[in-house]
Amino acid sequence: MQNWNRSSVLVRRTVGYSAVVALVCAGVSTLFLIFMGGRDADMARNRVTGAWDRTVPLIRQGYLPPLLPAGRNVAVQVLDTRRQVVASTPQLAGKPAMATFHAPSDSVFDERVLCPPAGLKGCMTVFSYKVYQPDGPWLLFVAVPTVPWYGNTTALFFAIGMCLLMPAMTAAGTYRLIRKDLIPVDAIRAELAEITATDLHRRVPTADKNHQEINLLAETVNDTLDRLEGAYKQLCQFTSDASHDLRSPLTAMRTQLEDALMHPDDTDWPTMTEAVLGGTDRLQAIVTDLLTLARLDAHAPLDLTPADLGRLVGDELDHRAYRIEIVRDLQENVLVDCDRLRVIRLLVNLLDNAERHATSQVLVSVRATGATATLEVADDGAGIAPEHRETVFDRFTRLDASRDRDSGGTGLGLAIAREIAHAHQGTLTIEDSERGARFVLRLPLSQAPGAAGPLDGHAAHAGVSHR
Ligand SMILES: Nc1ncnc2c1ncn2[C@@H]1O[C@H](COP(=O)(O)OP(=O)(O)OP(=O)(O)O)[C@@H](O)[C@H]1O
Ligand SMILES: [Mg+2]
Repeated sequence: MQNWNRSSVLVRRTVGYSAVVALVCAGVSTLFLIFMGGRDADMARNRVTGAWDRTVPLIRQGYLPPLLPAGRNVAVQVLDTRRQVVASTPQLAGKPAMATFHAPSDSVFDERVLCPPAGLKGCMTVFSYKVYQPDGPWLLFVAVPTVPWYGNTTALFFAIGMCLLMPAMTAAGTYRLIRKDLIPVDAIRAELAEITATDLHRRVPTADKNHQEINLLAETVNDTLDRLEGAYKQLCQFTSDASHDLRSPLTAMRTQLEDALMHPDDTDWPTMTEAVLGGTDRLQAIVTDLLTLARLDAHAPLDLTPADLGRLVGDELDHRAYRIEIVRDLQENVLVDCDRLRVIRLLVNLLDNAERHATSQVLVSVRATGATATLEVADDGAGIAPEHRETVFDRFTRLDASRDRDSGGTGLGLAIAREIAHAHQGTLTIEDSERGARFVLRLPLSQAPGAAGPLDGHAAHAGVSHR
């Protein structure tokens, strides 16, 4: 149902176009009526001249009959010097003089509008001529209906009719055409109005091929709905995974506490407390990771400072104790603008994972290539199959092999690491390697003055060291 308010495109276009046509029509009609008025005035003047031409010779020759021949829309009277009617056209037969005025002494002709002249009906233009006879000036009155500016009523009604019809037809035509064009838009709107969180699989209809722009709109809306549905599914999955991961330690802790309460004397309280504390540690780790992700999702501002990536990684490696060999290949003076805490968070997760999955060795390298700083963490473990190289970055993803190892991880580490890389305009990917998994972080090199270019970077190579 069309909403007839003034902001509606349909109403505005219909009223607008009709108003323009009405204005144009009024202008054209006025010109037409002025033309008709002029034409009718000329015709009236011709009739007057004709009556003069016919009557004056009769007066002059003395053959003036009392009843003059009738003319269409013209009345004639002849008055002698005593102002007695001596001849007239049939409609004035036996009637007194239609007027009493005559031309001033210096003129033979005068004209007046009388409403009506004596013996006639309606307003008429009366022409008074002096016809000089031997016994003095006779008067010849010729009356014709007064011509209005618009000519005649037929022309006036025609013009009014056209001025009503044309805007009405324009309004109807515009309404139909725009309504037809807006039907697909209305369908899109109606469908969108019905799409709720539970109906996100529905899509708006596309129009026929004559509505290219509307089709583009529908396609864009459907693309947006695709993305919304994807994001919504991801959110649902994320909520369910998060609830599940939070519930497992909670259930375990509750069972332990209930058992302890039921058999307080048989309970080894220090062991039980340690187990419950382990559960709270895990809960705390999950909640911290969720908070970190929420902040990254909300694009919380980073605390960017120029940092030497090689040195940052080196310092982090120095502070950790490892159960396996770490091989370093860290180029110095690879400056990046980064939020140190976040990049260390990323690095720690890569190192934790690598250490967990490595067989004997982890290689950590930093170098500058072109305008990019590259950090690699490669282990010699079982590696990650190509089909899982993207899914491991999804939230709460832990591959079966890792579950078997009971690593205690939440499956959020790589998701957080990738978000951190993206927040720094960089990328984090898993790339081919001869053995094990090779994680590659690429960040743009710092543009700050004094930042190392690729050549400087090579010059400042720190070499390979083992630990
Ligand atoms: N170096 C690696 N070698 C083999 N598999 C790996 C490696 N790094 C990660 N993975 C796989 O990717 C999964 C996701 O890793 P992610 O770091 O996101 O989670 P997590 O380590 O299990 O838990 P946490 O949130 O504590 O980091 C891991 O569970 C593991 O299956
Ligand atoms: Mg991890």
